[in-house]
Amino acid sequence: MIKTARRINILDGYVITQIWTSPRELADDSVGLIEENRSGQASGYSNRRSRNGPHGSTKIRLVNRSKSSQAPGPGTASFFSDLGKFRRDPLGKFFEYTLKFGDVVRYRGLWITHQITNPEHILHILQTNAANYRKGRDYKILRLSLGQGLLTSEGRLWQRQRRMTQPMFQSQQVASSIGIMTEAARVMSERWRHYSCEDTAFDIVPELMRLTLTIAGQAMFSTDLEADTEAIQEVLQVGREFSVDRAWSVIRVPHWMPTSRNRRHQASLEKFRIIVNRILEQRRGTPAPPHDLLWQLMAARDENGAAMPEHQVRDEVATLLTAGHETTTLALAWALFLLAQHPRILGVVQQEIAFLNGRTPVYEDLSRLKYTRNVVDETMRLYPPVWVISRTAAGDDAVGGFHIPAGSEVLIFPYITHRHPRWWTEPERFIPERFASESSRIRGAYLPFGAGPRTCVGLNFAMTEVLIVLTMLLQRFRPELAMSPEDVKLDPSVTLRPTPGIRMKMLRR
Ligand code: HEM
Repeated sequence: MIKTARRINILDGYVITQIWTSPRELADDSVGLIEENRSGQASGYSNRRSRNGPHGSTKIRLVNRSKSSQAPGPGTASFFSDLGKFRRDPLGKFFEYTLKFGDVVRYRGLWITHQITNPEHILHILQTNAANYRKGRDYKILRLSLGQGLLTSEGRLWQRQRRMTQPMFQSQQVASSIGIMTEAARVMSERWRHYSCEDTAFDIVPELMRLTLTIAGQAMFSTDLEADTEAIQEVLQVGREFSVDRAWSVIRVPHWMPTSRNRRHQASLEKFRIIVNRILEQRRGTPAPPHDLLWQLMAARDENGAAMPEHQVRDEVATLLTAGHETTTLALAWALFLLAQHPRILGVVQQEIAFLNGRTPVYEDLSRLKYTRNVVDETMRLYPPVWVISRTAAGDDAVGGFHIPAGSEVLIFPYITHRHPRWWTEPERFIPERFASESSRIRGAYLPFGAGPRTCVGLNFAMTEVLIVLTMLLQRFRPELAMSPEDVKLDPSVTLRPTPGIRMKMLRR
């Protein structure tokens, strides 16, 4: 068979090669486009059959996906020898490997893992072919801390829980939590006002943790968790260390074995259990409970009229508390960090919120905070609180022309796709304006809340909370960094945290 090939374009550093064997192949759905990096190494296939580029719309073919091949990647020996570097700097190392090997990178360690960077491929895994993917190994580790809540459960259990929980996060319900958000932000601002009077610099991360935990506790469970903040932060810290250690361990000892790491983790879980149990007991003793999320969970009945088992309610409460506050904290913290370094952008936000004349924002004001929303979007592009999303392939699949065998781990890094020069111009710069037009977004290239059926259930709640709190803080303060921005490092543990924290002064406006 004669293969014809020609290089048609050099785009964003990629050579695109057209190959065809027959006119019929050009019409064949199972063919794709070969992209090579400058060194000529094939780096990925796409299933697009046409592409609009400087050469016009071109039918492109070429690799029969049914004959999908093994994706490129480091050899097993070199992967193992680099393991220490991956652990020290996972973001840098995975970024380096996608630039070196392409959109689909195969790692062969004790198990097979594929790293996926291309937005089309990401949507294939998270959305179009989501039925073929279970939550990945990282979530199995998380299950040891959170049980079988919405974040970690699968199949029918997940479907039932999602159906029940989702209505509580719709706009109307979120709107009814605005008062809780504004009151918590007001209380925190009072505290910050004292710091500013004393010209004190402080780490904003624990402060924001306290705020978001208070909001989550009151909005979802009508309970005050302010006094539990330190205990919960410690529990999360132990959980983070446990999960990261376990994720990188070659040998995973069973969780029941009394190693010092397991014992420490179990002890912290026990503390968390006590807090969660207290929330449930308080509720049982309330004669006319509010119709909040906890009420919903406790009142739910399955098709046989049975209530949700107590352990399931506990797992959902623990999951929503954890998932519902740390991520929001980080979005707020990174936004303040960036705004402090970009006075022009800060000025535009301050102009936008000036229409409030200093009054507390209400739900209807949110639609006018367009630029502020762009700032939040751009913050989560640069610093996605969830920096990695993992899945396990249940059956064989082909992604971008490469074979993904059943059982392979699949890693998607919002952090890397969000900063990849192929999909973003000046990816390292903070440019909120890039989000001004919805159409400028490439589908799948922006996924701070994930995509597909397992998209974040708290998206509305989180965006509302971040916008409201940010607006109230910027009405009152001008954030100023009290440390060099270079000293704020990324700590990609379970979430993308700043380390050693973000020390700031909040100057009164
Ligand atoms: C800025 C804040 C937030 C970010 C960036 C964020 C991000 C994410 C992401 C990326 C996922 C998908 C994970 C995956 O596909 O494996 C997710 C799922 C989830 N999030 Fe969020 N989240 C945020 C806030 C919240 C809030 C406020 C809540 C609850 C109050 C929440 C609860 C959940 C739950 C329960 C899931 C699992 C959903 C499911 O699998 O059905 N999140 N979140």
